[in-house]
Amino acid sequence: MTFLDQSYLQTSSWKPDLFKGKVVFVTGGAGSICRVQTEAMVLLGANAAIVGRNQQKTDDAAKDIESLRSGSKVVSLPNVDVRDVKQLAAAVAKTVKELGRIDYVIAGAAGNFLADFNHLSSNAFKSVIDIDLLGSFNTVKACFEELRKNKGAIIFVSATLHYYGVPFQLHVGAAKAGVDALSNALAVEFGPIGIRSNCIAPGPIADTEGMARLSGGEKGRIAEKVPLQRMGTKQDIADATVYLFSPSASYVTGDVLVVDGGAWQIGQGFGTQDYPVTFKKFFDAPKGGKL
Ligand code: COA
Repeated sequence: MTFLDQSYLQTSSWKPDLFKGKVVFVTGGAGSICRVQTEAMVLLGANAAIVGRNQQKTDDAAKDIESLRSGSKVVSLPNVDVRDVKQLAAAVAKTVKELGRIDYVIAGAAGNFLADFNHLSSNAFKSVIDIDLLGSFNTVKACFEELRKNKGAIIFVSATLHYYGVPFQLHVGAAKAGVDALSNALAVEFGPIGIRSNCIAPGPIADTEGMARLSGGEKGRIAEKVPLQRMGTKQDIADATVYLFSPSASYVTGDVLVVDGGAWQIGQGFGTQDYPVTFKKFFDAPKGGKL
């Protein structure tokens, strides 16, 4: 199963061989957002390596993505936890051995669940900070020599949750605020050596793992409340990714590309504006208070 197919080459604005000879290294590539990002890159000529924790899921995703373009190579790198920089370094070494180089990095591995402060333990908070923020740092750390050699580019998968107070997402909001800060500082440090660093901040994107975890069954109502009157598609994320990695964005670094139909501008990101009703279960839940 893939999200995109050959028709992307006709329906998108991009040239088929845009990324010919290039290699993209992706954490979280077996999920939904990062998977479609990888699919677009592969359809447009790149080879890819995808990192995941689960062996079956990562192997299956790599095989499916590879089938999108004849002659493409997609390396599966399972059993890698982005919290462990040594595991990532080994994954990078395997990528370079099998694909020869790394030009682009997508740091997208993320952890998420809805939890209010009272039901969020210190370890739960730390787990998300470690996966999203430390994991993003580790990913760049492991890829740095390749990025430097190839004057590459990085995309961090961020969010809009930290632009305003989104309840039950304080752990993710805090992590993604850090990711934005990391990207901005790297853009400045890496500018002189020719590496670009940007974020994509997806809003409500239909049929993604994140949406399933966060929407609380509010899908239909969310679309109505987005200024562009629809939920995002995975292709919207694919197109933003291709743009940021393409030569068309060669003067764009330190930016956050928000792909959300205008949703965050009016505080409508995930339907949490109705939180006292929609998420009443949190208030009714048994006493939390675990440290
Ligand atoms: N509400 C509150 N706390 C939760 C929780 C929830 N829904 N789910 C997990 N936690 C807590 C655990 O209880 C644990 O805390 P404790 O030790 O104080 O009990 C802590 O989070 C770590 O959980 P654990 O399952 O040991 O961590 P993990 O590293 O295996 O998993 C998660 C990390 C929790 C982020 C898990 O959701 C995950 O693996 N997610 C990956 C996929 C994902 O979230 N994708 C989202 C894409 S948007």
